[in-house]
Amino acid sequence: MITLRLDGRPAMDSTATADLMITVADRDPVALHDADGSVAAALRALLRPLTWQQLRDRLALDAEQGDALIRRLLATGVITLGCADEHGDVATARIHSRRADLRPDLEPAADQAVQLSPYALLRRFGDHAVVESARDGTVVHLHRPELAAVAAGLCAPTTPAAAGRLAPGGPQLVRLLAAVGLVAAPGPQPVSPPHAAWTHTRSRSGLVDPRLAAPGTLDEPPAAPAADTDLPLPVPDLAALRHTDPPLADVMESRRSVRRFGRAPLTLPQLGELLYRVARIQQRLDADPAAGRLYSHTLRPAPSAGAMHELDFYLTVRACHDLAPGVYRYLPDRHALGVVTRDTVPLVRMINAAYLAINRESVPPLLISLAARFDRPTRKYGDLAYSLTLRNAGVLLQSVYLSATAMGLGACAVGTGDAADFADATGLDPLEVSSVGEIVIGSLPGQDE
Ligand SMILES: Cc1cc2nc3c(=O)[nH]c(=O)nc-3n(C[C@H](O)[C@H](O)[C@H](O)COP(=O)(O)O)c2cc1C
Repeated sequence: MITLRLDGRPAMDSTATADLMITVADRDPVALHDADGSVAAALRALLRPLTWQQLRDRLALDAEQGDALIRRLLATGVITLGCADEHGDVATARIHSRRADLRPDLEPAADQAVQLSPYALLRRFGDHAVVESARDGTVVHLHRPELAAVAAGLCAPTTPAAAGRLAPGGPQLVRLLAAVGLVAAPGPQPVSPPHAAWTHTRSRSGLVDPRLAAPGTLDEPPAAPAADTDLPLPVPDLAALRHTDPPLADVMESRRSVRRFGRAPLTLPQLGELLYRVARIQQRLDADPAAGRLYSHTLRPAPSAGAMHELDFYLTVRACHDLAPGVYRYLPDRHALGVVTRDTVPLVRMINAAYLAINRESVPPLLISLAARFDRPTRKYGDLAYSLTLRNAGVLLQSVYLSATAMGLGACAVGTGDAADFADATGLDPLEVSSVGEIVIGSLPGQDE
């Protein structure tokens, strides 16, 4: 039997704005109308598990409104769905989205074969196993280790009765998984990859309840010290550029992806100008809580969610006048380059991959890899961080496109950048710092002929 319970002991108060304000640990408070106190009374009754029907009967609402309220209480984490057997609790389902696929009335018969959803993920959570939905973020906590075998066994069509032979509590677990859409009638694999759904559902508000950290200790990391190898870049004359740049409307209208580059190598002043326009630090702002600035950050020409600026520019240079081939990191505070490696093996591999990506039209002189320091936005934005980083990368790609166009250079984004090549070239751990976006740059054809 599937039952509803309170998740822990939520605080229930009335406030100036709500008859009933429920506060659950780690979730946003929930404000409800409850003029006659019946909702609060029904919730207090949930200190003992009740079935969906029993809870609905206690709410002074019609069936539709009662169902809607129960779904809201589930999605906001006030209550959970659970199941038990004669030995105690079997599993608890925590719901994280109002879009959760709840089917409380679906109860597979003991001899009815069902199969695990292809969107179900079995993983460790603290010291126990959970089955998580990649579609809506629902997490089913298994209260006994042997129940993981039941979840794994459901990869093949299995009946609740057969699940009971795998572990005590097996049939109850199957019914709970059915109630939250994690098992269903046997069916084919989905067309869209579950990991894409998981990334999406775990990184969007509404589909996940994001925990935003108090970012008090978020210091802008210094550019990597590379004192003796720093190569200062030429600084462009911005005042002059304000007069000579083409109008933005012309730049926007004429920007195209360029895959065939001219024979002329890039020059160091061009590289300096491009990076100065797009990526340098314009201003440093220290934390000032009195002014609402909770952490130190920098301002740069391109926007970045929360001014995190977690993306670093790494340059794989094949042909640039006065700059030896190699992989470099742009140091935005000093407007300089730090040498990462002059080893030609990773360089050739990365340039060749970019050449293949732009349809082999020409070998790019320069590849920019945007590499994310994941820790910084994660500490502020939690689950939302990765999706914000990809958006920050898109912002920078367009900034490079537009600046290159204004400068009379060619640029083409590369969608197939290889994070393993980047890790090999830089020696960085891809779970800590990894390339998330690439763009090649070169001179336009015809300028040198
Ligand atoms: C994120 C992103 C990835 C891209 N990846 C590639 C790529 O791998 N190879 C390529 O030739 N063009 C790539 N492009 C360029 C697109 O093909 C191009 O923007 C599109 O065809 C429209 O043409 P336009 O940029 O000239 O307006 C990419 C563009 C973006 C924004």
